[in-house]
Amino acid sequence: MSENRPRLSLTRTIPKPTYYISAIDHEYGKYAFNEERAALFKGLWRSDVFKVNPLTPIDLEFGTGNGYHFSHHALSNPHRCLVGFELKYKPLIQSIRRALHGGAQNARILRYHAHNADLAFAPNEINNVYIHFPDPWERPKKFKNRIVCETFLKRLFELQQWDSFVEFKTDSRSYFLWALDEIAKTPYKIVYQTLDLHQSPYKENNFVTAFEKIFLKKGIPINVCRLVKTKTCKT
Ligand SMILES: C[S@@+](CC[C@H](N)C(=O)[O-])C[C@H]1O[C@@H](n2cnc3c(N)ncnc32)[C@H](O)[C@@H]1O
Repeated sequence: MSENRPRLSLTRTIPKPTYYISAIDHEYGKYAFNEERAALFKGLWRSDVFKVNPLTPIDLEFGTGNGYHFSHHALSNPHRCLVGFELKYKPLIQSIRRALHGGAQNARILRYHAHNADLAFAPNEINNVYIHFPDPWERPKKFKNRIVCETFLKRLFELQQWDSFVEFKTDSRSYFLWALDEIAKTPYKIVYQTLDLHQSPYKENNFVTAFEKIFLKKGIPINVCRLVKTKTCKT
């Protein structure tokens, strides 16, 4: 064989783990969970993961992005626990790192698909839920990928304790109106809704997320609704 011929790369097909991928199992292994590990704790998040008393609330955030709301919520509610769902490795690690750097001990994050929440949590195991600016999937063929939809909400309803809420914010007016029709097919009650959060009284207690900041700069109104699971809901 000629010495000058380029050598075959024997390692080129081996996936290269980036820092963010390996950090889930190593550096942040105590706080970040991959799909296999997350499912082991269904029904056991309070007792085995957070090691808190059975009455401590556990909130969920779907699609944490870079984690500004995630860390804000964990830090400003030290007596509640928070579990984030995020599919992308980099924002997942950014989210948990931000919370931990702030000193939060009550936050965990899962690399988990929102639609599979019922595989990681048991009925009545969770409290409030935050869904901020989920991907809008604007083309009708892609509506099936939308997180906020009838099937997902009905699953979530089973997982939540009574009097817990779901907060949904989006810049996409068409997604929001479509979602209201989906919500109407579920047992949730709408506590409030507005097509322009920042011109409404709900602005006062609103935390502006990273994506929200971008949309506000562009002058795009933010749609929001809050749903509640109350005993008067028809199941
Ligand atoms: C548009 S960003 C919004 C991030 C953040 N909530 C904010 O308001 O700044 C949506 C995030 O949801 C994540 N995501 C999309 N689909 C998801 C799914 N099915 N389950 C969990 N996370 C998802 C994306 O990776 C992305 O980080």
